[in-house]
Amino acid sequence: MTGGGPAGNGALWWRSAVIYQVYIRSFADGDGDGIGDIPGLRSRLPYLAGLGIDALWINPWYPSPMKDAGYDVSDFRAIEPLFGTLADAEAMIAEAHGLGMRVLLDIVPNHLSDKHRWFQEALAATPGSSERARFIFRDGRGPGGSMPPNDWTSNFGGMAWTRITETDGRAGQWYLHLFTPEQPDLDWTNPDVQEEFDETMRFWFELGVDGFRIDVAHGLAKADGLPDVGSIVWPPDGPEVIDHPHWDRDDVHAIYRSWRSLADTYEDPRVFVAEAWVHHPQRLAQYVRADELHTAFNFDFLLAPWLAEPMRESIIASLAAHEAVGAPATWVLSNHDTVREVSRYARPQGVRPLRKLVDLANLPADFVLGRRRARAAALLMLALPGGAYVYQGEELGLAEVEDLPEEVLQDPGWEQSGRTERGRDGCRVPIPWSGDAPPFGFSPPGASAPPWLPQPPTWRELTVEAETDDDRSMLELYRHALQLRRGLPALGDGALRWLEMPDGVLAFARDPGFACIVNFSREPVAVRNGTQLLISSGPLTGDGRVPRDTAVWLRALD
Ligand code: NOJ
Repeated sequence: MTGGGPAGNGALWWRSAVIYQVYIRSFADGDGDGIGDIPGLRSRLPYLAGLGIDALWINPWYPSPMKDAGYDVSDFRAIEPLFGTLADAEAMIAEAHGLGMRVLLDIVPNHLSDKHRWFQEALAATPGSSERARFIFRDGRGPGGSMPPNDWTSNFGGMAWTRITETDGRAGQWYLHLFTPEQPDLDWTNPDVQEEFDETMRFWFELGVDGFRIDVAHGLAKADGLPDVGSIVWPPDGPEVIDHPHWDRDDVHAIYRSWRSLADTYEDPRVFVAEAWVHHPQRLAQYVRADELHTAFNFDFLLAPWLAEPMRESIIASLAAHEAVGAPATWVLSNHDTVREVSRYARPQGVRPLRKLVDLANLPADFVLGRRRARAAALLMLALPGGAYVYQGEELGLAEVEDLPEEVLQDPGWEQSGRTERGRDGCRVPIPWSGDAPPFGFSPPGASAPPWLPQPPTWRELTVEAETDDDRSMLELYRHALQLRRGLPALGDGALRWLEMPDGVLAFARDPGFACIVNFSREPVAVRNGTQLLISSGPLTGDGRVPRDTAVWLRALD
């Protein structure tokens, strides 16, 4: 079942894969409109191949009114014109394959755009119709149905229900949206919905796509009767199973068993990764049982503060839960929804695991320290058993852009929170590729528009061009580590053995002949005799010990 070693081309490549997240609107702009697109991505594929990753996951690139940056999909089987054409997509997939990289797309099954044909048909139809039955429409409570059907709230703030006006002009039913009002939730008990998504997956699989990241995988099943959430706290503090009316309900698993059997009809393995924000590794492992999804993002690891014991506990719990179901763990430090790790690690640790920017602004920040820790975290992540995710810009050491002017903020969370949370734009700023000034090669020369979010001038030091061949840069650290990982049979899928170390030091061995040490403590730690240093996230002490917030990879010589 296990095997270790680099991802390679075998049927189990996904058990060891390093997957690079392309947030397409911010990756590379081919046509100069200030928004990343597929031609831009195509032009940068050689960069990704050279980085040494195994696959790409591309955020939604489907037609969308962009009320939630493409997670409001109006047609699941086409390409958003801002990003290019279906022909561009096919050419990109073929080129990525030619360069030895697989391609995963993002599927968004919990909701669609209110501009999707289905929702428009539902608005034009009557209560109780088959068009409405694809969604979660209900009559309101209270006199005249003027109150929402229950107390559920949207992930972005405010009620999760919006009332419509019926075609005869009267105030009508309410529909559920766990995200923005422009993202009505689908009813997954309806066979129409299931068939539509099966068709969509087949469409992209036939085009050569190797798999899907599943958006809000823990949200598709809603409790019968849609009971109030009431006093249920989500996420809960401990590992206890919570009967929440719409998060992480057991009914979601039947959907994924059916998806897995669809994926398994293809000769080349087609794989899934769940975005499931559940509260405990054991709950996460339910999604990756042998007949369900292949992998799931490990947000427990992402949320762990940069402290030895919480990190160790997170790793132990994740490995144990995944091993119990025979699935590989994955490791992730950031994505397009979370505060970039340089900025998280720049703050005092363990206060709260992850904060909105408004909270971060109130804590002292040391970005040199944040970057140093992020370097060590990268080596830790890439040495752990299983697969890993790298979010674009992480390999450049980008920090969150915390001072975007209010007038450029686009994340719906900003408005829906009553402007109390700045939202996720700060981790979505377009990538700096080259040159001394914005757009830093993100757009071609003579572009008609600036990047859709402004890049800080200080990013001149963090472009791909500036970091290339600079031995101290984050980019060269990632390149070197990924190259080593490909050549080391001990890395990727497999197991680890913890090594005895002083408090505040994490050290583990992997067979054959590999060890990783991460020092979180004040006291530098000596490496063992009989080992050779393969890579270090930062300088060692004069006498060769590993200082605080530094990680090393070692080869055992005996
Ligand atoms: C999770 C996605 O990662 C996030 O960006 C999006 O806003 C929500 N799901 C809703 O689709």
